[in-house]
Amino acid sequence: MTQVVSSETRDGIAVICIDNPPVNAASFAVRKGLVEQIEAFEADTLAKVAVLIGAGRTFVAGADIREFGKPPEAPILPDVVSRIENCAKPVVAVIHGTAFGGGLELALGAHYRIALPNAQIGLPEVKLGIIPGAGGTQRLPRLAGIEAALDIATSGAPIGSGKALALGIVDTISDEGDPKAAGLKFAKELAATGGSIRPTGGLPAPKLDSAVAERFRHKLSKSARGQIAPLRCLDAVLASATLPIEDGLKQERDIFIELMNSPQREGLIHAFLSERQVAKLPEIEGITPRKIAKIGVVGGGTMGCGIAVSALLNGLHVTLIERDEDGVSRARIGLERILGGSVTRGKLTADKRDAMLEKQFAYSTDYSALGQADLVVEAVFESMEVKKEVFEQLDQHCRPGAILASNTSYLDVNEIAQFTSRPGDVLGLHFFSPAHIMKLLEVVVADKTAPDVVATGFALAKTLRKIPVRAGVCDGFIGNRILNTYRTHADHMVLDGADPYQIDRALVAAGFAMGPFAVSDLAGLDIGWATRQRLAPTRDPRERIAKFADAMCEQGWFGAKTGRGFYLHGTDTPRGTPNPEVLPLIDADRAERGITPRAFADEEIVNRYMAAMVNEAAKVVGEGIALRPLDVDVVLLNGYGFPRHLGGPLHYADQIGVKVMLERVESYATEDAYFWTPAPLLQELADEGGKFADLNTLEKGTSHA
Ligand code: 3HC
Ligand code: NAI
Repeated sequence: MTQVVSSETRDGIAVICIDNPPVNAASFAVRKGLVEQIEAFEADTLAKVAVLIGAGRTFVAGADIREFGKPPEAPILPDVVSRIENCAKPVVAVIHGTAFGGGLELALGAHYRIALPNAQIGLPEVKLGIIPGAGGTQRLPRLAGIEAALDIATSGAPIGSGKALALGIVDTISDEGDPKAAGLKFAKELAATGGSIRPTGGLPAPKLDSAVAERFRHKLSKSARGQIAPLRCLDAVLASATLPIEDGLKQERDIFIELMNSPQREGLIHAFLSERQVAKLPEIEGITPRKIAKIGVVGGGTMGCGIAVSALLNGLHVTLIERDEDGVSRARIGLERILGGSVTRGKLTADKRDAMLEKQFAYSTDYSALGQADLVVEAVFESMEVKKEVFEQLDQHCRPGAILASNTSYLDVNEIAQFTSRPGDVLGLHFFSPAHIMKLLEVVVADKTAPDVVATGFALAKTLRKIPVRAGVCDGFIGNRILNTYRTHADHMVLDGADPYQIDRALVAAGFAMGPFAVSDLAGLDIGWATRQRLAPTRDPRERIAKFADAMCEQGWFGAKTGRGFYLHGTDTPRGTPNPEVLPLIDADRAERGITPRAFADEEIVNRYMAAMVNEAAKVVGEGIALRPLDVDVVLLNGYGFPRHLGGPLHYADQIGVKVMLERVESYATEDAYFWTPAPLLQELADEGGKFADLNTLEKGTSHA
């Protein structure tokens, strides 16, 4: 069996190798092994220098996240780092892949650091709701200065090897190609010149510039809305300038432990692990996906252009079909605008863009151009008649075995599949706008979708670097169905007396990226209007639908795209200012229903919004539309701006308590029993004393329906 930490000594150099796949996380076995190997190195009179490397694709990606929440087992990481730093002979860390969090902290404990050109270093702990807990906040500023350390630690964003060299975090970049060769070369030179130990913790304390500290505090108080870790991280890094190293390390550890026990840490780790869990489906285990190299996109509007760009940027060949030459011209402008943005932001060179457009891309108005496509995504108007026309064409022109996907937001994918002679090859691939940026992809599995077609949907998501979530067929699938519910309740609160701007402010203060009315303005109020019209014929008479929203659309106020919606949008006020003409429309709607408006506290707004979301989410899981609660959480986190530190609506429900959530739903139901029908799953879990998290594991062939 391979040892997790092994060592071999040759020509006076001990190579200590961490081999803990997949990412060499600093688990208990790694920590224990490192201390043993450092002690063996110190005791070995023949070994002059130790080289610390990671096996496989990376150095050490951090502490082992899967051990979080369990009692720590000694040796704990700060002690391992100190043991390396206090080693009587020089230790050289060689970074390839990623040195993140505890991985970087281990490297900071070494006396010298070499990076391979591909190396990324960072302290991403704040993204997990904690701060570095093994000396990162004290050693990094001693090497790189306060400002750079604040930048790295409070943002959690990684930097490349070039920047790490410029900041003095690494001593050199090696072009040796592999970590062992790079380490041996450096160590031999060091041994030959009698290189000495150089503890980072022994460097002078960094200088504190109070203007820099204030700038970061101001920035974080805005960007870290609702989150604890970034500001606590700021405190810890600043302490490196005023406290002796031992006291700074102790303060860092105290904050680390405090945050390790916080619900925000649990929420953020749940988000991290769930985003990796969503692609693990018994349904596709062992099934080979179909090969996808050439895709077709039908419809070159907002979504079609974004999907095409996403595919192009990830190496696929794309043929885009529009209905006529005008459509082609508009699509060309739309697509080139997106690619132009990538060039301006430095994500793509102009030469690469030009080559991509020439070699990987074609436009047509003729469906026969899709004859060689492996997969086609339809992104035409949200109308069943138009979709029917398109899928009949696709059925006629696409080769056998080609996958036919719809990007529909709400429509029935089973019905769409019936427009073809090959329903097994049809599925929904629901991208989010802007499709070249948003990570979420709902893979909508219809009744007859073949398992290898599902597997191909997931494989395509990987190629496009997206997070795929399996969804069943219903109006709006997972995300839009839940959105419709909580968005409707936002309208209910307005009818009953809340002001839309107060609702938006209360939800932003609770950590949402945007409030529901600002979101509607951005997405286009006509979308909700069309949905309300489509559902009107089948609507239950008990359903409460706000008329003020229709009244706004009837005046042509569709939000940002028309310059007017709940907000007025100008070039100098892209986020908008409240539209004074909206409140009279709301008053008229209230008057017609005989409602005397009442005041809402911000807390009530947030509680009701969350309860509406959780209740619908529980229905979505209970009906098997989402396989597990975690799938819903990932959708709401990545497509709907749900606060990441709350972990998603069903993780949040567990934190608040399933019983409390049910009590809230039941108490609101006294006003509107139809809207607030409790989800059977919520009721069941509350009765059994269970949690949504209990349903996050799946046996082969099961769902929670
Ligand atoms: N601990 C345990 N498992 C980890 C891990 C970690 N730190 N980082 C990644 N993994 C696991 C993932 O869960 C995944 O497991 P799975 O295959 O069972 O789903 C597997 O490693 C591969 O991960 P990815 O799918 O994310 O692989 P990528 O190649 O896309 O990305 C990565 C690799 C960039 C390292 C990314 O996984 C990542 O960012 N990891 C988190 C790094 C991090 O946050 N480190 C700090 C930890 S906190 C800390 O160090 C505290 C210290 O200060 C005391
Ligand atoms: P859009 O109106 O911007 O673009 C639709 C495009 O389809 C137009 O360019 C039109 O010319 C073209 N088209 C219409 N009929 C056609 C046909 N028969 N053959 C070829 N092209 C045809 O619409 P948008 O916003 O891009 O939406 C497209 C689809 O994506 C809809 O089903 C929508 O519900 C869905 N969607 C939209 C999202 C959004 O945020 N806009 C998000 C996710 C899904």
